[in-house]
Order: sequence, then C-alpha cells, then structure tokens
Amino acid sequence: MKKDFIALADYSSEELQDMLSLAIHLKKEWKSSGNAPILKNKAMAMIFQKPSLRTRVSFDMAMRHLGGDALYLSPAEIGLGKRESIADVSRVLSGFVDIIMARVFEHDHILQLAQWADIPVINGLSDYNHPCQAMADALTIIEEFGSMRALKVVYIGDGNNVAVSLMHICAKLGADFIHSGPQDYQISPIAMKIGKQIAEKTGTKIAYFPDPQQAVENADVIYTDTWTSMGQEEEAKKREAVFPPYQVNEKLVERAKSEVIVLHCLPAHRGQEITDEVADGKHSRLFPQAHNRLHAQKAIIVKLFEE
Ligand code: CP
Ligand code: NVA
Repeated sequence: MKKDFIALADYSSEELQDMLSLAIHLKKEWKSSGNAPILKNKAMAMIFQKPSLRTRVSFDMAMRHLGGDALYLSPAEIGLGKRESIADVSRVLSGFVDIIMARVFEHDHILQLAQWADIPVINGLSDYNHPCQAMADALTIIEEFGSMRALKVVYIGDGNNVAVSLMHICAKLGADFIHSGPQDYQISPIAMKIGKQIAEKTGTKIAYFPDPQQAVENADVIYTDTWTSMGQEEEAKKREAVFPPYQVNEKLVERAKSEVIVLHCLPAHRGQEITDEVADGKHSRLFPQAHNRLHAQKAIIVKLFEE
C-alpha cells in the first residue's frame, strides 16, 4: 500500500525517530560529499494554493540533491477544486510524476488528494497542521539537546496549524508541550484530543496556560508563529488587538532556562509575535531551523519511496 505524509499522528514514535535519524545522516552526507542520486528518475509535483518560500525551495532542492526533479504548480495554474476536481487532478498527476507535495487551505483537500492519488502525498501545510515543519523543528531541537525527551517546549501565540504539529511531535518524541495564548485562540479540541492520546502513551504532558510569563518558567524551547495565518487576513486587526501580551521579547525569554532556544517557523512579523532582539539574539535558532526543512524533508521523501 502506498504511504502518505499527512499528519504526525499517522506515524509511530519509532518511525518518526527513524526518519529523523535518516535526516541527520542525509544532512551529514550532503555537507561532506553531496547526496547519492537515490531519487534518479523520480519527480515531485508541488501544488501551492498559498505563497511559500521555505516549503517551495526546500522541497525543490531536496529533490535535486537526491537526483530527482520537482515541478512547481502555482495557485492560478491548476485551480485545485475549481478548474478541475481534486480527484481528477490526483489521478492525472499520478500518471506523470512519482510523488505529490501540496499546500492547501482546507485540510480535507489534502486528504482527498491522498485518497485519489496512486502515489505518495505530502502535506506541505493545511489549515489544520504543518507536519514537515514539525520534523524540521524536532531535528533542530535534537541537534541542540541530543533528544526531545523530558524537555519543556512552550508555544506562545495562536493555536494554529504549526502549534498542532509541534504539539504532536512533542508528544510522540517525549517532550512536554505547553501552549500559552489568548483564551479564544487555543488549539482545536480535536487536535488536543489526539495530542493527549499520544501523550498518555508516551508519558508526556500537554497543558494550556493563559499567562505567558508562567508558561515559560523552566522552558527549554520557546516557539512562536504569526498571529494571523494565511487565509485569515480579514481577522488581522481583531487579532492584533489581543495578541500583544503574547509577544516573544527579551523580558519573556529571560524567564525561561538560561540555555533556552527560540524557534519560529517563519515568515516572522518582527515587532509583532517576536522582537528583532530575540529573533537575532543568542537564543535564536530561526535560521538553522529553516535550513533543517531541507534535511527533514529529504528523509520524509526517501521513507515514502521505501517498500
Ligand atoms: N515555514 C514555512 O512553511 O514557510 P513558507 O510558508 O515560506 O513555506
Ligand atoms: N501559521 C502560518 C504558517 C506559515 C508557514 C500560516 O498558516 O500562515
């Protein structure tokens, strides 16, 4: 049966750990001598319904480094679900390429793509989650601390797609996860339920703290993301009124452990969810984290092609 990479909850802790070990290996290999062309004659279709820098460039380069090809399909180009049904797009692409990566507005659209395609489908961000980002986040945390086990990861801000995948990877890989943000912007009950089921199995904790100062006490990792995600632009003003107490600034970072690292999936809105001082300061790992998208995604792609 073909495999997809749609949500972290679909994978066991061991499988995710294996993928991350492969990512570390592929990163070392690429830095020393370049990767072996193990994806020669393989092509990826990259469907984008929203803008992207990291996802687009890192997937494209991942395929090239491994000897394969990638095709960018812009929002206007294929009109997913508008010009043509998702079922038809999936079945047509299945005859041309070997793997699909898609960034969609509605999570259900990525599920439909996977359902109709005969080839693996990777979720490059939906309104529900961002699993590829979380794999790069885990890689960055593991590089820093050796493992995620027993760490305290605190996510400050909107309980959005990035928060969901971060919570799930923390639970899968043994870290405690705290969310702190406005009461009305908590992580969805369905994502929390899945997170808590995973956490119960791995013996980790998931919690919500309204007070960001309290949340970051003893944190090993502080993470934040935009207050207004793509597709929510009409709510920007309303959000800008309630999120400022949740800005990741030097005062907040000082309350965490002295060796805390600060992460952000980017793009950052400097002066809103994060200050320049923190984004460019000694605790920041923002750019190694962005670069790890390349390595984490190579591992995801290679694992999807394994028999
Ligand atoms: N973090 C991330 O997914 O960035 P892009 O939106 O630029 O792909
Ligand atoms: N939460 C953000 C992540 C962007 C990578 C968004 O969905 O716009």
